[in-house]
Amino acid sequence: ALDQAANIHVAAGGVDRRQRERLNGHGGAAVWFTGLSGSGKSTIAAEVERRLHARGVRTVLLDGDNLRHGLNRDLGFSDADRDENVRRAGEVARLFVDAGVVALCAFISPRQAQRDAVRARFDERPFMEVFVDAPVALCRARDPKGLYAKAGEGAITDLTGVGAPYEAPASPDITLSTGTDTVEHSAAQVIARLEAAGVI
Ligand code: PPS
Repeated sequence: ALDQAANIHVAAGGVDRRQRERLNGHGGAAVWFTGLSGSGKSTIAAEVERRLHARGVRTVLLDGDNLRHGLNRDLGFSDADRDENVRRAGEVARLFVDAGVVALCAFISPRQAQRDAVRARFDERPFMEVFVDAPVALCRARDPKGLYAKAGEGAITDLTGVGAPYEAPASPDITLSTGTDTVEHSAAQVIARLEAAGVI
């Protein structure tokens, strides 16, 4: 493929992130939830979003299932497609952070290299990797979408954690144990980190 980026120059905006953050009254940041299907990424991200919204923080929720209906509708679950899915999601999150928004991102993002590549694109922008840790046996027991059952029948061969790999984060900013902790407790941990980082 042609690398068209070589002839494209990044345009300087008239307003920068700091100015947008001042207008919003808080910082922009990406909170990146990674974990198995059924680990609780979307549930916790939604609870964090509710809490932030209630205190006047501008947010966006980016979720694998949702983006795969639109922006990423051309992508499946091969390694290459997951790489591209995560890359695009990271780019969208970065745009929101530059708008001074707290972007809550819930993607399996199964590879450390994918997550590191996203983080690298954030430069000095706040980026928090949150490991939503639940054993695969628990995710299988929850099976909210019936995907683990389908994998058991052989109808899905590339389910993360079953037929496809999941690499747990090497050094996450936060680890949430959703098998033992409540959604409320997990959400509170994320909020506390955003406060400690001076984002909110
Ligand atoms: S990835 O790996 O980061 O590109 O995945 P993501 O964009 O987060 O999408 C995961 C959701 O897609 C559904 N789904 C599958 N997940 C994993 N493996 C396979 N084979 C698969 N097929 C469909 C599933 O609903 C995932 O949503 P969550 O919220 O994680 O359960």
